[in-house]
Amino acid sequence: MRVPLTGGPIDRSYDVIVGYGAIGELESLVPAGTRRIAVVTQEGIPSDWSLAAFDVQTHLVGRGESSKTLATIETLSRGFARQGITRQDLIVGVGGGMVTDIAGFAAASWHRGTPVIHVATTMLGMVDAAIGGKTGVNLPEGKNLVGAYWQPNGVVCDLNALGTLPPRETRSGLGEMAKYSFLAGDDLLPMDLEQRIARCVEIKAEVVASDEREGDRRALLNYGHTLAHALEIASGYELAHGEAVAIGLVYAAELALELGRIDQARVDEHRRVVAEEYDLMTDLPAGLDIDDLVRLMRRDKKALTGLTFVLEGTDGVEVVNDVDESAVRATLARFANE
Ligand SMILES: NC(=O)c1ccc[n+]([C@@H]2O[C@H](COP(=O)([O-])OP(=O)(O)OC[C@H]3O[C@@H](n4cnc5c(N)ncnc54)[C@H](O)[C@@H]3O)[C@@H](O)[C@H]2O)c1
Ligand SMILES: [Zn+2]
Repeated sequence: MRVPLTGGPIDRSYDVIVGYGAIGELESLVPAGTRRIAVVTQEGIPSDWSLAAFDVQTHLVGRGESSKTLATIETLSRGFARQGITRQDLIVGVGGGMVTDIAGFAAASWHRGTPVIHVATTMLGMVDAAIGGKTGVNLPEGKNLVGAYWQPNGVVCDLNALGTLPPRETRSGLGEMAKYSFLAGDDLLPMDLEQRIARCVEIKAEVVASDEREGDRRALLNYGHTLAHALEIASGYELAHGEAVAIGLVYAAELALELGRIDQARVDEHRRVVAEEYDLMTDLPAGLDIDDLVRLMRRDKKALTGLTFVLEGTDGVEVVNDVDESAVRATLARFANE
């Protein structure tokens, strides 16, 4: 599958290879003229890639968000320097979204921009993080605050990698898939996993191609995410990202109902898809404070003013700014009591 990113000043389309055993195609994506390859990955990630024709070194980064830092970028860059990586060489990120965000950002800044290929090994990485060119690291002040847009030269999604994925990570990917079913209005259920992942890649790529740098169109990818981000923080990250997104999707439907944008049948459809098709929770976890959630939603990075949600209406989903706080609260209260 080729991801079209032709909207910008230059054509930066790239191939995304999805399938069981897709890793076998990695070498075919390496740009002509590459001599050295820096593989960025983590301990415990499947390493069944082969790049025998090149001078390859593996650079390990730590696990967990606490390693997604500028210090890690510095360590990696010093490793690239020792390996002699130049702008004519290649960086390959092999891992979940954390690794591809780090490898992508390191590539964007190494010699002011070096080609990168992502080998996504988590479901969330395949359908979301590895596609679209957003890269970056965290600061103590917040997640993903430092970064760059840097499109990969290609992406590999080998479904064999998913065999070793912990269940919590699988649920994270499923939450994003549920999001895509609503965004595209597609029924992904009859598809097998391979087709479904390919379809999600296509949906994300289509949105990104129309809006690389987060205007309103790309912001639609945040469907379900305003409450999800607040829930992740309020639960001390006990909820996996996709679990929080699942609840956020149902909440966004309930809020749209509260605002008279959609009807009850559409809310029921959200619950059905999230619970039955993706086997994810649709209820607000007990014991969360509504004031806390509202405060956290106001701080959402993407909320430029007031409370911003992506909401369905008669013409599909759209970004809605300055949503009335009393509607947000009333819906949370109703949601909490269901
Ligand atoms: N750039 C974007 O557009 C974008 C979009 C969404 C999320 N993200 C970022 O992605 C990150 C989350 O990504 P994630 O959910 O993939 O988590 P992750 O990359 O932290 O991976 C989760 C865990 O699974 C392990 N793992 C990865 N692949 C494995 C495999 N095949 N088998 C066994 N273990 C494996 C990892 O080592 C890690 O411990 C966050 O940092 C988030 O900010 C970026
Ligand atoms: Zn998400």
